[in-house]
Amino acid sequence: MTASPIRTERHDDILVIISDNPPVNALGAAVRQGIEAAIKDGVADASVAAMVIRCDGRTFFAGADITEFTKPPVSPLLPELVDMIEASTKPVVAAIHGTALGGGCEVTLGCHYRIAVPSAKIGTPEVKLGLLPGAGGTQRLPRVAGVRVALELTAKGDPIPAKKAHEAGLIDRIAGEDSLVADALAFANEIKDIRPIPRASEKAVTADPDAVEAFRKENARRFRGFEAPAANIACIEKAASGATFADGIAFERQEFMRLMMGVQSAAQRHIFFAERQASKIDDVPADTALRPIRRVGVIGAGTMGGGIAMNFLTAGIPVTIVEMQADALERGTGTIRKNYEATAAKGRMKPEQVDAAMAALTPTLAFDDLAECDLIIEAVYEEMSVKKDIFTRLDAIAKPGAILASNTSYLDIDEIAAVTSRPQDVVGMHFFSPANVMKLLEVVRGAKTAGDVLATVMDVAKKIRKVAVVAGVTYGFIGNRMLMPRQVEATKLLLEGATPEQIDRVHVGFGMPMGPFQMADLAGVDIGWHRDPSRIENIRDALAAENRWGQKTKAGFYDYDEKRTPSNSARVAEIIDQFRAKEGVTPREIGDDEIVARTLYTMVNEGALILEEGKAQRASDIDVVWIYGYGWPVYRGGPMFWAQTEGLKKVVAGLEQYGFPVARSLKEAAATGGQIR
Ligand code: 3HC
Repeated sequence: MTASPIRTERHDDILVIISDNPPVNALGAAVRQGIEAAIKDGVADASVAAMVIRCDGRTFFAGADITEFTKPPVSPLLPELVDMIEASTKPVVAAIHGTALGGGCEVTLGCHYRIAVPSAKIGTPEVKLGLLPGAGGTQRLPRVAGVRVALELTAKGDPIPAKKAHEAGLIDRIAGEDSLVADALAFANEIKDIRPIPRASEKAVTADPDAVEAFRKENARRFRGFEAPAANIACIEKAASGATFADGIAFERQEFMRLMMGVQSAAQRHIFFAERQASKIDDVPADTALRPIRRVGVIGAGTMGGGIAMNFLTAGIPVTIVEMQADALERGTGTIRKNYEATAAKGRMKPEQVDAAMAALTPTLAFDDLAECDLIIEAVYEEMSVKKDIFTRLDAIAKPGAILASNTSYLDIDEIAAVTSRPQDVVGMHFFSPANVMKLLEVVRGAKTAGDVLATVMDVAKKIRKVAVVAGVTYGFIGNRMLMPRQVEATKLLLEGATPEQIDRVHVGFGMPMGPFQMADLAGVDIGWHRDPSRIENIRDALAAENRWGQKTKAGFYDYDEKRTPSNSARVAEIIDQFRAKEGVTPREIGDDEIVARTLYTMVNEGALILEEGKAQRASDIDVVWIYGYGWPVYRGGPMFWAQTEGLKKVVAGLEQYGFPVARSLKEAAATGGQIR
């Protein structure tokens, strides 16, 4: 029999119940059973006056054990455990450090008193898994912290620091950062004789009549497409509308089960694990010794280089940034400062943090200054000859063991590595624009990239709060390679009879932040254009030739007013008509299903090819790329997960209907009912 993760200690008449279930003290069956037994003992033992629940390791309970969700339930269920803690005839104190999340927060609400260290965070992030706090949280939170705080915590899912939780009444007392155990014992001694014992379920909800409706309105945009926020709000509304605790709990249970059985929660839970899995490299051991990264070099102070530099500066890692011309260097440095100041103006950074970040930046015109850097990232424009020249020069000056990275979004890392005498130190680090904001980092593994280089880059990515995914060398890597068939088909559909508005509407309706043509207008219709207005080979060329370069020229696939509000363009409709006439195409009615098949199924097909070729480690990595790099709706779980929910047979049939060659692995998975691998 394995030892229980729960042990107890006696401190005079206080029984301390301690969980030790690394890494995050998830509330798995053994933990629940151990706590239940300990509470029973404490209640039965006449020499115990009060109890304290605390955790060893890096955090208080971080929630229910998500891996159990797909397994048969084991008693006591979390709601039962929370109820029995609350029903204890002796007071129970929760002593919180790290993060008390989800079920962990609900355990604290079952406890009669809560004490936390200042660095602790408390919250109910279930909504991010497409769920709601299903162990009484939606009914106890509004009773303890009020309707507004309960709405914020449950429907948005962001945890709050101990101080804020204290102000909201969610925490009764703040402990010393290093004296939680002693302070919790002292607290338990103070309250042990107080009767009646304060129980959250017995409190009345303070009326706040307009809060729920106002919250719904304020956040309608943020919650677009998601099912779980509305369910969380409905549960809080139930409590706020005077329902008894028992009725509220019954409603919470019903909504929890509904969400749990739904596709959205499955998708969001898939992404939770996919994101963590992505950081693992199949053939590089987790304990690989890392190269120290004390200073980072960035070549190019343009939009990309500047954004890349900011990631490291924000994380406290000094950066040397190199440009060729003084004015470009000055402009780049100025933009970095402006961006930081804008963040500070929004209250998301303190002025002294801005100063600290800027002080860690060394702008220079001397390429040789990169010699002291441990990781050097090239972020100049996409031209193989330029990249080769830079890597040749880097090879000559970089210190031994320095990691040499390119931010290329398409080009062959092996070809770049080949110009150096150290291809094992060369790797791709493909950031997404704006690089200081977007979470995704594609780490491109060359044929000769060393394991410790990959492991180090994955570790650095975590430090700068990116979600990193390993990709192989292939044109456009994972994300941009899959974007290509989508763009090609979207343009063909225009020619055949669809409008930009229709295609964008289908994509936005699907949950993408914008459609292909809205994206083209934002990025620039002229990107990759041959710049010869007399050469019109496709509709994009025709737009570019008329200076319709997108938002920046106030005209692209849409017209834009001064505030960049788009409207449908009569001129674009004419241009498309002219082009159709020139090509001899008679436009036909295009159905939304055809748009889905040709612009989304084709992406899935490309993803399957990428897997077959070994350019991605696993299907879930592809999902992570699309969620964090391109705004694929997380409630659809990424393209590969979505294809499974859509039905692979349907996807294959759709591809075949429109004449696309279907990837072998996709066909096989559809035929066997298996997963795409
Ligand atoms: N259940 C099972 N495993 C979990 C888990 C959970 N609730 N939370 C984290 N883990 C696992 C991770 O998968 C990871 O496993 P791996 O090492 O094998 O990849 C490991 O614990 C460490 O996690 P992180 O890499 O995320 O560690 P961090 O230190 O970066 O973050 C954390 C710690 C903030 C606690 C973060 O893990 C987190 O946000 N966890 C999820 C919290 C959550 O969503 N709780 C609600 C659960 S649902 C619930 O409680 C339902 C209830 O209302 C009925």
